Amino acid sequence: MITNRTFTMIKPDAVENGHIGAILEKITSAGFKIVAMKYTQLSRRDAKEFYAIHKERPFFDELVNFMTRGPIVSAILEKDNAVEDFRALIGATNPAEAAEGTIRKLFAKDIGENAIHGSDSDENASIEGAFHFSGREVY
Ligand code: TYD
Repeated sequence: MITNRTFTMIKPDAVENGHIGAILEKITSAGFKIVAMKYTQLSRRDAKEFYAIHKERPFFDELVNFMTRGPIVSAILEKDNAVEDFRALIGATNPAEAAEGTIRKLFAKDIGENAIHGSDSDENASIEGAFHFSGREVY
């Protein structure tokens, strides 16, 4: 398993609000290298599978509706300590609790529409990257 990689999605709210460029700038200037990237839209089946761990939670239907309502940018990123450093760059799940300067503090509205995803472990980074990209789509 490659442990210096993480997986991200710029979520539909941030795409709708025109923040793709600004978010990519934050990511690359923080030292992450893009090794795979696509502009795509999740089906309901995709979103349910991606967030299956949350399927019993009260916010699950809202999460699936949100994640499928428009296009996203998905990417695999490379950097030493990628998972941890990227979680620090995006900030807390709830933007109201996110540190100043983090992507969620800058671009997210609330805990549901929180602009960006970042894998929470090396194992999930690998699973999530493989869910979105075939081997030949990854540099
Ligand atoms: P989670 O994995 O807990 O957070 P993170 O994205 O920071 O790893 O939750 C996944 C997504 O589910 C989260 O980004 C937004 C949504 N969500 C809600 O809508 N309400 C909630 O109360 C929580 C905890 C998450």
